Amino acid sequence: MDQNTKKQRAAEAAISLIKPGTVVGVGTGSTVNYFIDALAANKIDIEATVSSSDASTARLKALGIDVYDLNEVSTYDVYVDGADEVTNHKHMIKGGGAALTREKIVAAVAKSFICIVDDSKKVDVLGKFPLPVEVIPLARSYVAREIVKLGGDPVYRQGVITDNGNVILDVHNLSIIEPTALETQLNQIAGVVCNGIFAHRPADLVISASETGIERW
Ligand code: A5P
Repeated sequence: MDQNTKKQRAAEAAISLIKPGTVVGVGTGSTVNYFIDALAANKIDIEATVSSSDASTARLKALGIDVYDLNEVSTYDVYVDGADEVTNHKHMIKGGGAALTREKIVAAVAKSFICIVDDSKKVDVLGKFPLPVEVIPLARSYVAREIVKLGGDPVYRQGVITDNGNVILDVHNLSIIEPTALETQLNQIAGVVCNGIFAHRPADLVISASETGIERW
């Protein structure tokens, strides 16, 4: 079974957890695209969505699904998103698609977070996937130097501007033993908007698809 089929199966497994009449938080990426398509195909009578990127908003609207501005919503039931890595503790690295900041914000407002992945994303320790850090453009070199002091190797993601007008540094060679502490530490560097460690707000449920079926934890 190829990776895309697994992504689709994980996305479709999340559909059964979506209740009619609710607002649904929608992440970003290829796995979430399958979720958006399944949301439309299953004609679940949700109230609307809140979205984590311009790309997801465009896909939702093209399928006739309403998208609320997050400021109109004080809280909502479920946020569904993919991940680049996820652990047994439901900590994640996200941001491979550069949408980490809005993803973290839209997830923060949700009562629960369902992470949908194929089984290649499951890891014991975060950090093999280069950690995305969104940075104010003016601060790019300064932030890179500060990250080197923390033991990481930052690489500027050339040609990518986020939906918020910022740039991304992908930090290689980190072994993230204490994700909560590193998430906090990176956010304290002036010029960092957000980093892709999701540990302060982990997932509540991970749905992972493999050759043999769906695993949940
Ligand atoms: C987007 O910025 C990311 O956080 C994605 O959720 C993550 O990269 C997973 O993407 P795929 O579903 O495309 O693997």
